Amino acid sequence: MTVLIRGGTIIDATGERAADVLVSDDGTIIEVGPDLRGDTVLDATGCVVSPGFVDLHTHLREPGGEDAETIESGARAAAKGGFTAVVAMPNTDPTVDHAAVVAEVLERGRTAPCDVHTSGAITVGRRGDDLAPMGEMIALGVRIFTDDGNGVQDDRLMRRALEYASSLRAPSDGGPIVLAQHCEVTSLSAGGHMHEGEWSSRLGVGGQPAEAEELMVMRDIALSQLTGSRVHFQHLSTAGSVAMVRAAKAGGLPITAEAAPHHFSLTHEACATYDTRFKVHPPLRTTSDVEAVRQGLADGTIDAIATDHAPHVVETKERPFDQAPPGMIGLETALAVALTELDMPVADIVGALSWRPAAIAGLDAHGGPVETLRPANLTVFDPEARWKVPERGWASRSNNSPFVGRELRGQVRHTVLHGEPVVIQGEAQR
Ligand code: DOR
Repeated sequence: MTVLIRGGTIIDATGERAADVLVSDDGTIIEVGPDLRGDTVLDATGCVVSPGFVDLHTHLREPGGEDAETIESGARAAAKGGFTAVVAMPNTDPTVDHAAVVAEVLERGRTAPCDVHTSGAITVGRRGDDLAPMGEMIALGVRIFTDDGNGVQDDRLMRRALEYASSLRAPSDGGPIVLAQHCEVTSLSAGGHMHEGEWSSRLGVGGQPAEAEELMVMRDIALSQLTGSRVHFQHLSTAGSVAMVRAAKAGGLPITAEAAPHHFSLTHEACATYDTRFKVHPPLRTTSDVEAVRQGLADGTIDAIATDHAPHVVETKERPFDQAPPGMIGLETALAVALTELDMPVADIVGALSWRPAAIAGLDAHGGPVETLRPANLTVFDPEARWKVPERGWASRSNNSPFVGRELRGQVRHTVLHGEPVVIQGEAQR
């Protein structure tokens, strides 16, 4: 059986061209060219056909948080958002901090409608005291380590983690191991539930200063310089962070960074109604921070758009602002928020969603050019389609989206995973 993606414009890292794409159900692209024929036809008229998106930052909540999300439901949300691969965060219960949990996550992800990879924790239980056994997780395919939800507070331990990681290689291709940091100095952020500034004062809610993020960015740049190790900065949210990463990259350090859609589209003013859908860590910040994140994406300082998809059940998000958990879902709206909010060429937005994160995660089967014999992991989206984000109907088990009710531009039409159309006309097929 073959699937034909007909009438679209291909955008990949090699450029842009109009062509049909014929894929086989063995998972490869058979042919790219004009006027092809195939068994199942996916209409791509007016659409972009791109390598599948890769999310470096997805909370799938399994094991332990299945009431908010499962690997299956999160992967379906990813597929609906055009993602063909996600990297799951390790802040599950139990923590992904040793081989057995890695194996369990990967096993449950094997039949999901999106490739599921997982990161591992840098420290045991993400508690910041002892290094986790990275080697046994790397042997199972883990390439990214993070204590996400927490930053590694101890400078010396972070130095050791970087030194250890740089001595290790991915067994499949010898690629590097990446330490990814949630930058937050907790002695400064403790007691804070939103950005510290005008709105936290007005609302009487404890704030987290920008410096809580920036001091850890500063430290990890210094530690990357000291150790020569790669550091990936997660969900950058402040102008100061973006400026420091820009300077560090210009100085040649092996640093990469991501930004989340909510950090280039929403400000702390959104918390004015105490709506907990706008509570997130790091918090929504000022207009000038949002502008700096946009600029960082536009000039390549920030390599990737990563969702920080963080599902939470209604009962917890209904608590008062200072008691509700931070986080917002994002897989199903990431592309549209990016196309709506960013003043960037579509190809650069696709790069930030696809080949650039794929390169950071070392995922060869994703993000590559749309060419014969390449793996058929593809996203077809209409860059002009306008839609209003609905309250219900999410593939995710949770509905804590800050974009409900917003008019967005850009919609995923089809997603093809290893040759199988897992989303057709916006509908998940399984
Ligand atoms: O808002 C957030 N939610 N930030 C994090 O770092 C963790 C995440 C979660 O797991 O809910």
